[in-house]
Amino acid sequence: MEVILVENYSELSERAARIIEEQIYKSDRSILGLATGSTPLGLYEKLIEGYKRRGVSYKHIHSINLDEYLGLDKNHPGSFHTFMYENLFKDIDIPMEHIQIPDSLPSSVKEECKRYDQVIDSLGPIDLQILGIGSNGHIGFNEPGSDPNSTTHVVELAQSTRKDNAHFFGSLEEVPTHAVTMGIQSILKSRRILVLASGKRKAESVQRLLSENISENFPASHLWTHDDVTLIVDQDAYKLVSQKGSEEVAR
Ligand code: GLP
Repeated sequence: MEVILVENYSELSERAARIIEEQIYKSDRSILGLATGSTPLGLYEKLIEGYKRRGVSYKHIHSINLDEYLGLDKNHPGSFHTFMYENLFKDIDIPMEHIQIPDSLPSSVKEECKRYDQVIDSLGPIDLQILGIGSNGHIGFNEPGSDPNSTTHVVELAQSTRKDNAHFFGSLEEVPTHAVTMGIQSILKSRRILVLASGKRKAESVQRLLSENISENFPASHLWTHDDVTLIVDQDAYKLVSQKGSEEVAR
């Protein structure tokens, strides 16, 4: 795992945007794996800037999102469909038919998971997968205890995850209890993975991730089994790791 330590959130977003744009320059037909959450918001702003000011085009790009809540209309303000449209897709030239996000109201959840795996297999492998990291170490919505061999599946969200995401909804009660997510195995099939971690809230997750201890209790730790992962982390999120480093130096 390559670790890029940056000063702050703005630098993190800039570095991540450069990596995505390099991927697009390498192939304008790249398949991008996209994520939601507060962390990639700055990155998406930089990508929009790149499109508007430097003409970086998404005309031939395909995107595959990690996950979606179940039971919400896709136009609900809290859905990941809305999140992606409002924060990225409406401001770049990606064709709407190139966008893949799990259906939030499928008639059969089982069929939807199967369909999504087929989408990933037929379009993929994903060239570059963007990941945030949950405060409990989840990736996508693969909560602690997830099977490392999982493909797309339904999950019951951990209470901590619902709390973390409540700010996107009016209240905790409004956050859905279930979601569809790409599995850990589906994520690990990507050619390259870019993990973003910012802020003090992520300091513990980053410390656990960098301890290199692979465990089902900490889903992000499975990233150590992949040979092309880059973590971009800012000073606040790296705090516990650097503290430990300085303690070791002092000893
Ligand atoms: C949601 C998403 C994850 C994301 C996580 C972290 O749960 N499903 O993919 O990594 O949020 O969110 P944030 O970036 O807001 O901390």
